[in-house]
Formats: sequence, structure tokens, C-alpha cells
Amino acid sequence: MWRLLVVCLLLGTLEAVDRQNFKTCDQSSFCKRHRAVTSPTGYEVVQDSIKINDTGLHALIKNKDTTLKLTIVTLQDSTVRVLIDENEGALRKRYQPLEALVEREPKQQKVKKTKEEASVTKILTTDGNRVVLQHKPFRVDFYVKDKIVSSINAKETLHFEAFKKKVLLTDREKGFWEETWKDIKDTKPHGSSSVGVDIAFVGAKHVFGIPEHAESYSLRDTKAYEPYRLYNLDVFEYETNSPMALYGSIPYLVGVHQKRSVGALWLNAAETWVDIDPTTADKGGLTKEVLDAETKPRQVPQHNARFYSESGLIDVFITLGPQPNDIFRQLAALTGVTPLPPAFALGYHQSRWNYKDQKDVKEVHEGFVKNDIPLDVLWLDIEHTDKKAYFTFDKDNFAKPEEMIKDLSEQNRKLVTIVDPHIKKDSKYYIYKEAKKLKYLVKDAKDAIYEGNCWPGDSTYIDFLNPKARKWWSDQFAFDKYKGTSKDVHIWNDMNEPSVFNGPEITMHKDAKHHDGFEHRDVHNVYGFHQHSSTFEGLKARSNNEVRPFVLSRSFFTGSQRTAAVWTGDNKADWAHLKQSIPMLLSLSTAGLPFVGADVGGFFGNPDEELLVRWYQAGAFQPFFRGHSHQDTKRREPWLFAANTTDAIRNAIKTRYAFIPYWYTLFYEHAKTGKPVMRPFWMEFIEDEPSWDEDRQWMVGNGLLVKPVLEEKAKELSIYLPGKRQVWYDWETHKARPSPGAVQIPAELNTIGLYHRGGTIIPKLSEVKLTTKENHEQPITLYIAVNQKGDFANGTIYLDDGESYSYEKGDYAYWGFTFKREHDYLHTITNKNLDKNGKFDSDVYIDKIVIRGAKFYPRNAHIFLDDFSPEDLDFEFNRENFVMEIANPGAFVTREFRIDLHS
Ligand SMILES: *[C@@H]1O[C@H](CO)[C@@H](O)[C@H](O)[C@H]1NC(C)=O
Ligand SMILES: *[C@@H]1O[C@H](CO)[C@@H](O)[C@H](O)[C@H]1NC(C)=O
Ligand SMILES: *[C@@H]1O[C@H](CO)[C@@H](O)[C@H](O)[C@H]1NC(C)=O
Repeated sequence: MWRLLVVCLLLGTLEAVDRQNFKTCDQSSFCKRHRAVTSPTGYEVVQDSIKINDTGLHALIKNKDTTLKLTIVTLQDSTVRVLIDENEGALRKRYQPLEALVEREPKQQKVKKTKEEASVTKILTTDGNRVVLQHKPFRVDFYVKDKIVSSINAKETLHFEAFKKKVLLTDREKGFWEETWKDIKDTKPHGSSSVGVDIAFVGAKHVFGIPEHAESYSLRDTKAYEPYRLYNLDVFEYETNSPMALYGSIPYLVGVHQKRSVGALWLNAAETWVDIDPTTADKGGLTKEVLDAETKPRQVPQHNARFYSESGLIDVFITLGPQPNDIFRQLAALTGVTPLPPAFALGYHQSRWNYKDQKDVKEVHEGFVKNDIPLDVLWLDIEHTDKKAYFTFDKDNFAKPEEMIKDLSEQNRKLVTIVDPHIKKDSKYYIYKEAKKLKYLVKDAKDAIYEGNCWPGDSTYIDFLNPKARKWWSDQFAFDKYKGTSKDVHIWNDMNEPSVFNGPEITMHKDAKHHDGFEHRDVHNVYGFHQHSSTFEGLKARSNNEVRPFVLSRSFFTGSQRTAAVWTGDNKADWAHLKQSIPMLLSLSTAGLPFVGADVGGFFGNPDEELLVRWYQAGAFQPFFRGHSHQDTKRREPWLFAANTTDAIRNAIKTRYAFIPYWYTLFYEHAKTGKPVMRPFWMEFIEDEPSWDEDRQWMVGNGLLVKPVLEEKAKELSIYLPGKRQVWYDWETHKARPSPGAVQIPAELNTIGLYHRGGTIIPKLSEVKLTTKENHEQPITLYIAVNQKGDFANGTIYLDDGESYSYEKGDYAYWGFTFKREHDYLHTITNKNLDKNGKFDSDVYIDKIVIRGAKFYPRNAHIFLDDFSPEDLDFEFNRENFVMEIANPGAFVTREFRIDLHS
């Protein structure tokens, strides 16, 4: 948002977000109307309206004004869907963002038993859960093993504005038929159609999710504050610790409990606000239900979340867990996973707005070679285009894109170019001409082509809600259309909230029109999702489905993980934003979107060298790792600083590369289980309640704890070691520590707090080359962290060609490693093929094994390979810190071996 920047600069400061540009709940008429609902809205089930079928039930519910249609369906894997729509005869169809789901109709599950009583109807599910529909007042309760875990409408706030014929305006209906904000009128030709209800999370100590906000990880009480807002917006230099809407929205939250965690997905793409009310079961209105099962409702924590959406319907998926792994699997079944990314995408990405020309590009990526710093991807922002016409290259500065790309390819590197959804209004621009001719552009309220201002000046916007427009968009990435590109060019979709500089709140007018008669207000939050999804399809198709695409998007919705990585947008080079990035990324990971990162160094402003180093250290352990900066900032390629700074940055990036075999394995496992790669503590240590809301530290997979230095001029770094009766090892010194506990380590320039969890095995590259491609077959070191009992550790590794889809046909290897105490005098290390369908025979071998916590005194070690004649192995054993190191065991990762350690 450069125009605002100019204004700020004129004022002599580079201050934070201009709040005036964005609405508060009070300034949004539907939010205000919903928040004003404080007494029961009086809905009840209409007598004799309940119809039960194999998978659920239908009923009518009504209050004095409105009759609604209720559907409850039980889905596979402890998931229940509750839909509330207008009754037959509605004036308009309501929009449902069904493309966000993996399957438009998630698989239903037959109910085991239903029971109709005078005041309640009960459904017993095949998975042993219970759904209870209370008739008067209307309420739906969810039970897991006889304990109530969630409830819809327990606070009786259900408020549903049915479409109606326009009548005389009354005061009460202010904002109902039109709304003006900052001189921009929303004409609301169909009036208001908002929906809202409360969802209780009974027993939940914390609720997490509903990204994207620059807030703490644990959602806070909004009673005396603004609700969290979900409305995809281009926010210039956003503030930290604020519930303001940002670039993307995932209307999903999870209530965490030791034994019974519950998730709720609110499938609605309109502007949505969420109020959070931490309470207890008695005050939360569920005294009786909790009494049945537990003892003192007064002591049962509860969180009530109230969702209000401007249009659409109430479509809630409750996932009943009960354990963290179940929660992630259930969400993944609904909204999908990130398919295995190409390996290069896990490397380091260098971006800037903008690398000026081809010479600049060449100097930068050669600079990485000269300075011995790994790099996989060079990025080009908007200035690389021919006057902001995407799919083109600037005729002077990027006159020979083929040459530039070939040069990168030869060094095993990739290029990412930016392609935004706003289309330059220029009758000579082929994309504009075609889109206009084919009627693929969004229309305004008066049915003319919608025009807004964005980077190119006058712009139009592709209507990604139209499936034909999406297909056409995908086709534009074909090599013969997007001239100059090759399979080594991947795509960045920015500004896709969409950003409209002269629109209300810097986005599209809500009365703009999309495909199939829907208004922009109905589909706003899913607009960017459709852009990046069709970009992804296009990249796949251009290579005949052979090469895995990489797409980065700023805007997102639930389901975005299937086709995009996202980053946290235009952050700022200060310590607060560095800290803020962690809860933001944890929140995205919790909501099912694992491939996430923040601009390293901060987009706006100039980080000092210390901040830059610390940011690289944090970013090296976050899923998407990119340095990026605004055009007004000083250049910050890693070698432009004092030698100690450059060294520390090199160190951080090399450390990242060394762990890529582990990251790649985690992404593979994510695709199978839905578990994120960057994990909040509650997911791994549900037994350690005080650690659940931790948002300065995180886990990479289940084995690696990360705590970067986040304080300026820190002398010490204190690290919390979560879990009960676990052992943790300092990654560098191998020193063992029990948990729960805390440790302090000196915060030196190269310090990154890294702890290896006892009981796990992590594969790491022994030496790092400058690209993931060159590292692909490099030998690995196996780090074994023995558990607290001293008898076990295990871990996995996944390998394939790193770029194609041939893994889908069996060209992969998924192997496990186990360390085990067989008896007093024998410990073994073995590997095993965990998936016999995987046929990939890799040459990757293990050139070193490090055993931490080896509480035995090894006398000799030998290895059995195929032929079962053992060979002696050389090793060293350190009696002080119990570390055993075996050099050159001669073992291949994907060929069976057994190592015996005799003591
Ligand atoms: C039961 O109702 C649900 C929800 O309307 C519907 O999707 C499903 O097909 C119905 N099942 C049967 C067996 O008719
Ligand atoms: C690098 O070394 C110089 C000189 O000792 C020191 O002043 C500076 O703070 C160091 N840089 C960082 C980022 O610590
Ligand atoms: C590793 O060991 C744990 C604990 O016994 C087990 O639950 C897990 O399935 C094992 N992992 C693999 C990949 O075998």
C-alpha cells in the first residue's frame, strides 16, 4: 500500500496501521445487531416436524418471527454437521463455499440408534458419541463417552435474518437495506441476511484458531473488546496484539481439553466476527448437562464462541476428537491436507520488491554462491512485469527471461514470479481482452464491469467464482501462453483478498456481482482461495501433471492448504513483529494450514543486524522460509553486513538445510495424518496443561523443540521443556534435562534454542551443499535421543525424487529407525520399511550415528547387513555426557540393517 506509505512519510513517521481504514464491529451494522442480542431469541423445535433418517434428522425450528430448517447429519470419524437454513420459499439462495471442502458432500455415517422423547431427540452415533437435540429451547448438545463437550445455542443467541421484501425503513432496520461507510455506499439490493449463533466448548481451558490475527495464540476474552474479525483485507503495516482482520480467514477453532478436545468449523465465506467468552459450565448455561457427568459445574472451564456472518447459512462441523491427533485427522478429512511439496520449496527463498533487472537477479543469486550461503529460489515482485500486466516481463529490464531462468536452472535454482488477480484495464493487454470478451470479470452492482484501482492503475478483477474463468486462468500458465517461463518458474498470488485501493476497507464493494447471482459479500473470504487453487491447477497442467507446483498466496480460506503455502503478509522490521509471527504461524497450523511463514527481517523498515540475525534463526525453523522486503528499505542480502552478521545468517540457513530431510518427512506425514509440521505444545504434550498456550516456542514434528532468541540484547535464553517425565537433550551439547522444567542457556550470536526430545530419532544432513537438489542424495547423520527409561527411541525418513508425482505410483521410500534395549548387555539399532508399496531404492547412506543418553558402557558394536555376517564398527563413547558416536556404519537408509551394541 504505497499510497499510504507516502502519506506516512510526509508526516515524518512510519507509524502503524491506519485504523480509520477498517471497520469496528460497531461500524458494521450486522455485527452490531448480533452483538446486541443479549436475551434469548426463543427458538424451539416445531412439534411433529422431526424426521429421522439413516444418517441424521431434519426438523423445523421457529421463534416468533422466523421459521428455519435444521439438518443434523453424522459424518464419518466422529464428526457431526449441523445446518440451519431458511425454510422452503426463501426469496434467495444462500451461498455455501463447498469447494473449500475436499468433497462437496462429506461422507455420512449411519447412526447407530435414535430415540425420540417428549423434550429431546437423541442420536447415538456409530463412533459411540451422542448428539442430543433439545426441543425447547432449541439446542444441540454433543457428548463423547457420556460427557458433554460442546453445545450449539446454549446461550440462545441464534439470530437469523431471513431474506424479506423491501418495506418501509424503520429505525430498527438501520443498516438493513443500505449502509454507508466513509462515503462508500453498500446498496444492499437484497437487504441483510446475516446469521449467528453461539457454540460452547465445555471443559476447554483454551480455544485456539480462527486465523488470521496478529494476536496471542490462545484466544482471549473479547467481552470488553472487539470481536475477532474474519474478513480478508490488505492491511498496511498491521498492529500486533489486535483482533483486526488480516489477509486470510479460517473459521475453525478448537477447544483443548486433556481428554476431550473438540473442533468446530464454521463453513461460511462472508464477513464473520467471533466473540470469545471464557466462562464456566454453570455460568455458560450448561449446569445440568455437566452435573450429569462431572461433579462441580462451577469448576468446569468453558469457552463460548459466538459467530456472526453477514450472509450465507449456518453450516457447522463439530469434530469430536477426542485426542489431538484425532482432531487434526478429522479436520483434514473435511478440508484436506497440503500435498507433498517439491523439496526446493523447503529451502531458503530470497525475495525483494524488487530485484531491478536481470543483472541484479544474477548478481544476487551468484552472491549466494560466492558467500557460501544456500539458496533455492529467487523471487520477482510486481516490477518485473510489463507495467503491471501479469504474465508478461518488462521489455527493458527483463528482456530475456528465458536466459535468466536458464541461468537459475543450471544452478539448480527456481524462480517465483508474482501474478495478482487484478487485471490492468488496457485494451492492448491480451489477458484483459480475453477475460472481457469471455465475460470472466467481476461486475458491479449495476452490471457493468467492476473497476477498481490497484498496482496497474485502473483494474478489473477476474471472477474466480466462475468455474470456467478458473479453468481459463489455469490455462494461462501453459508455457506457450506465459511466454518465457519454464517448469522452474513457480507462482506467487498476492493482493488477492482482493485488494482494491479505492474500495471500502481497501477491498471490493460488497454489492459487486459474481457468477451465479451471488454478491461479493457472500463470497469475499473465498475469492483468494479460488485464485490460488486455479493457479495451482494451471501449474500442474502445464507439465502434464508431472511436476509438483509451488504456489504462495496472501489470502486464504479453509481448504487453502490443498494448493498453497501462505505467509503473514506485510509485517514490520521490529522485535514485536518477530515475536508475533510465532502465534500467527501456530494458529494457522492449528487451523489445518501447515505451509506457513513470515517475511524474514520484516517487510517494512530496516532491521538492525541483531534483529535480522534473530529473525533468520526463527525463520530457519518455520515451514516457509523467505526473506522479503519493501522497495523503500535498504538492500539486505546476507553479505551486505558485518562479517559476524553474515556468518550468523549463513549458519542459520545452513542449519535449515541440514534439517530438510526431517522437514520433508514431516510434510509427507502431514499429508497422511493431517498433523501440522510446526506444532503447538498441546498437540504433543496434552498431559502438560501449563504448556498449552505457549507461543514463544514450538515443536518441529514430535522430536525437535525450538526457541529462538526473541529479545533484543538478550544475555540468556530461557527455555521451557514440556511434558511429564520426559528427557530432553540440548542439540549441541547433548546435555540431558528432565521435564517439565526450564533451562537457561547463554544467548550468543549463533544461539538457537534447540532441544531433542528423548524417545525420538531425527535424520539430518551431515554436510550441506548450496541447494536442496545438490543435497538430495547426501549422506545423513542419525541423531538418536534415548527416552527417559533408557530403552527406546524411534523415528522415520521419507525419500523420493523430490519434484515429480511419481511418488504417487510407488517411487518413494518410507522407513523407520528404532533404537531398543534388548537386555542388560545388548542395545540395537534397526531400520525397517514402513510402507511396502514404496519401491524407491535410494543411495542415501548413513555416515554417522549419534546416540544421546546412552546409559550403558559399550564394549563393541557391529552391523549386520543383508548377508548377516557382522562387521565391526568404530565408535567413540563419552562417559561424561553419555554420548556414543558411530562413524561410517556403512548402512543405507533404505536397505535393512541391524546394529548391535554390546555392553
Ligand atoms: C438423510 O438426510 C441427509 C441430510 O439431508 C441426507 O443428506 C441423506 O441423504 C439422508 N439419508 C438417506 C438415507 O436418505
Ligand atoms: C558483530 O561484532 C561487532 C564487533 O565486535 C559487534 O559490535 C556487533 O554487535 C556484532 N554484531 C552482532 C549482530 O552481534
Ligand atoms: C514409535 O514409537 C511409538 C511409541 O512406541 C509408537 O507409538 C509409534 O508408532 C512408533 N513410530 C513408528 C513410525 O513406528
